[in-house]
Amino acid sequence: MSDLKAALAEAVGTAFAGEGLDPALGRVTVSDRPDLADFQCNGALAAAKAAKANPRDIATRVAERLRGDPRLASVEIAGPGFINFRVAESLLADRANAIAGDVRCGADPVAAPRRVLIDYAGPNVAKPMHVGHLRSSIIGESLKRLFRFRGDTVLGDAHFGDWGFQMGLLIVALSDLQPDLPYFAQGEDPFPTISPVSLEDLERLYPEAAARAKTDLEYRDRARRATAELQAGRPGYRALWKHFVAVSRTALEREFHALGVDFDLWNGESDADPFIPDMVADLKAKHLAIEDQGALIVRIARNDDKRELPPLLVLSSEGSAMYGTTDLATIVQRRGEFDPALILYVVDQRQADHFEQVFRAALLAGYIAEGGAEHIGFGTMNGTDGKPFKTREGGVLKLHDLIEMTTAKARDRLHEAGLGAELSPEAFEDIAAKVAVAALKFADLSNYRGTSYVFDLDRFTSFEGRTGPYLLYQAVRIKSLMRRAADENAAPGPITVAEPAERELALTLDGFDQALAEAYDKRAPNTIAEHAYRLAQSFSRFYAACPVLAAPTPALKASRLALAGACLKQLELALDLLGIETPERM
Ligand code: ARG
Repeated sequence: MSDLKAALAEAVGTAFAGEGLDPALGRVTVSDRPDLADFQCNGALAAAKAAKANPRDIATRVAERLRGDPRLASVEIAGPGFINFRVAESLLADRANAIAGDVRCGADPVAAPRRVLIDYAGPNVAKPMHVGHLRSSIIGESLKRLFRFRGDTVLGDAHFGDWGFQMGLLIVALSDLQPDLPYFAQGEDPFPTISPVSLEDLERLYPEAAARAKTDLEYRDRARRATAELQAGRPGYRALWKHFVAVSRTALEREFHALGVDFDLWNGESDADPFIPDMVADLKAKHLAIEDQGALIVRIARNDDKRELPPLLVLSSEGSAMYGTTDLATIVQRRGEFDPALILYVVDQRQADHFEQVFRAALLAGYIAEGGAEHIGFGTMNGTDGKPFKTREGGVLKLHDLIEMTTAKARDRLHEAGLGAELSPEAFEDIAAKVAVAALKFADLSNYRGTSYVFDLDRFTSFEGRTGPYLLYQAVRIKSLMRRAADENAAPGPITVAEPAERELALTLDGFDQALAEAYDKRAPNTIAEHAYRLAQSFSRFYAACPVLAAPTPALKASRLALAGACLKQLELALDLLGIETPERM
């Protein structure tokens, strides 16, 4: 199913060809002056440049060939040689009917689906999550849904940080506190299956231990040794570590789920560990890994680099695997288990060099093909001071607290707006939670991911303006219209397009495919957010101008009901692709 732009490009291309010109010049874009035109073609300008001719002449001749085309209501020349089009009502109606009857709401799948792995969120055991993890979760979840919707086979992996120095810190901290626990004895006894620590314990122990290790060198050494022993397989430490991982994961999964973020895989950094020895041997055999001052490195700099990229450190001089080693081994692991054609790493922009190093090494070693991995970086969520957001106490923001805080605000907002008053307390809570998630996610995703933005809960939760709650409110309004229609047995029928607001809504519906294609190509969901907002606004104007249940004729009523239904379906789908769930009422 092609959108109007594509249908027009074909007609205009044929007209260019009729003038002996390249049909590709018939490319059509949505008009940047909707008051003058629906679509425009700038091909005459390019054609004139190449032929050293007058662009207006070419435009006039092309336009002449298009006059009388039943798909076009008007063809006009503007400025130096732009061709402006209004599409015929019949074509708009055909397109709206096609969208209304399409399970994909008018958006095409990709021509060549691939296997794609999306590495996002990247939470760590015991270390509290910061806003970087939040943005990664929100953007990654949306990309996962988008890629899947467009037809790719997608796995989302949390890439759990379960293997670093923080593990040694936790072991040492706990052994000081409870030295008699069986995990600290040398031996292979069966260890208790119940965790000796809760999440609260971990969250308290970790920052204390991390702070102490900064100044207390002896303590730091003990933690290093514990990390090495854990990684070497000391049974008691392994058993304890499993508890740390399980306790953290259970809590994190619950919090992510509350945010509408769910993973297919919770592979840990530890899962890549068994792949390291063979990989190191392979890198050596390929003469990529070389000794340098006692360490093992892979040189990845290129002659045309604008600035110097340091080599990838594979093994430190103490023989430990590093962050980059784990990521490289994870690529080897993923290749064996899923063989993705593309891996997307949704990680803070500040890790750009790290990923460049890893990808180059992977390419040199033949673990990925050119373009087989991309770092999808993003800016920060800032406080009003312009620095990455911190809580009022100056600490990192915990995901759990953020959700609580936003939900409390959502409750206030609902009360203020007089919404949900007649609902049961459970139903009201459910809606407050959905409004909160919509507020946070839409605020994030409506910005291009590379842009940093300021955390402003008041604005994010408002029911007015470019916000998640506004979009939910519009969707719920249409749902309530649909319920009233069902109550009076009014059914949708063929869509006709006549009123300006009907035209506008049909044109907006048509733009969905392009919004998704752009989001997909740029790996940036903001164009979906933008589309959802425009759709809600178009609906709002349509609803104000065109009575639906009180339409003058039964045919018009059926048409408008179908148009409203198509709009609701597409809006809900767009929101779903952003990871936002729409309530039934509020
Ligand atoms: N756990 C890491 C952090 O907190 C993020 C992991 C990102 N993914 C990756 N494959 N390196 O910074």
